[in-house]
Amino acid sequence: MIYLDNGATTYPKPDVVADAVYYYICNVGSNINRGGYEKAYSAAEVVLETRDMLSKMFHGYGPRCSIFTPGNTYALNFAIKGLARPGDRFVTSGTEHNAVYRPLHQLAEAGTVTVDYMPCNCDGELILDEALAMIDESVRAVVMLHASNVSGTLMPIREIGQRCREKGVIFIVDAAQSAGVVPIDMQDYGISVLAMPAHKSLLGPQGLGVMMVDPAIAGEMIPLVAGGTGSHSDMAEMPPELPDRFESGTLNLPGIFGLNASLKWLNEHADEVRAHEKQITARFLEGVRNLDGVRLAGLPTTEGRVGVISLDFQNGDNGMIAFQLEQEYGIMTRVGLHCAPLAHKSLGTFPEGTVRFSIGPFTTEEDVDTALAAIHALA
Ligand code: ALA
Repeated sequence: MIYLDNGATTYPKPDVVADAVYYYICNVGSNINRGGYEKAYSAAEVVLETRDMLSKMFHGYGPRCSIFTPGNTYALNFAIKGLARPGDRFVTSGTEHNAVYRPLHQLAEAGTVTVDYMPCNCDGELILDEALAMIDESVRAVVMLHASNVSGTLMPIREIGQRCREKGVIFIVDAAQSAGVVPIDMQDYGISVLAMPAHKSLLGPQGLGVMMVDPAIAGEMIPLVAGGTGSHSDMAEMPPELPDRFESGTLNLPGIFGLNASLKWLNEHADEVRAHEKQITARFLEGVRNLDGVRLAGLPTTEGRVGVISLDFQNGDNGMIAFQLEQEYGIMTRVGLHCAPLAHKSLGTFPEGTVRFSIGPFTTEEDVDTALAAIHALA
């Protein structure tokens, strides 16, 4: 079997990730910020180290500003809903995942905010001049992804961030498909909130996300979830300090131990991982270039994209093709709308969707060649 659904979640993970989760469950087991004993302190040290590694990796605002959430969708909801006020204007892009589209839609339906969409072309690229013209002082926040989970197209977050900084606009970035594989400099790009899952290109476990915040706006963000933090327990309000303000309840400590190990692994292998992704993606794209019966929904070379490749089979039903890929060739993909109807509308593949092949750090050239042979046969 060949796993080409790394856009959904990377698999396999480096062995050290499972080892760390196992180590926590078997040898540590205690909570943090609650118990006054050595084990709890040693677990807290690993959590703090993980926050610090994240802050360094993305040039954030220090370990306290790396907030753990139950996933990337939660991080985005915390940021979007925590910052929205009645009458606000939000701007987003025409290629968003439902993790951004739906919370904004909910707020718009409730009459709380208005939402405008920056246009994208049929390769999923942002139409930058039109997008920049939409961002002025009247905008509360721009919320956009960094890399599309459908076409892999990268968004010009540096340019958008600069514009947001000039106009005093909050900038929220969904780095679900890029964090770990494309460098991101939060401070340089002017990102106010950077959201990411642990389980994709950061190679950690599921059920864990990160919300990295600029402390300048954290005070404006209303915590969506309130509860015990192990700090200021005399207060009815959530504590003002980070990360406690946004971290009620027991954290996903097995997940954080796993992420700690995957970040260390990534720090050692970052250049290799990036070069590998580029090389494997190039091989895949080359193999589907000008292939009769197949439309590539996205950019044709590795320039401006990540290793998420969507194909629209013109002579058959994409759902049937994905089924055949699995049943006859042992190739696992994701077919349909990928929780991103906006992206498919921009790409011209709505409502049929596409068959998505997404590569990971352990995808081999042989995997790609087998997939290409199957694609050619099915096309
Ligand atoms: N958002 C994930 C995907 O693109 C699950 O498949």
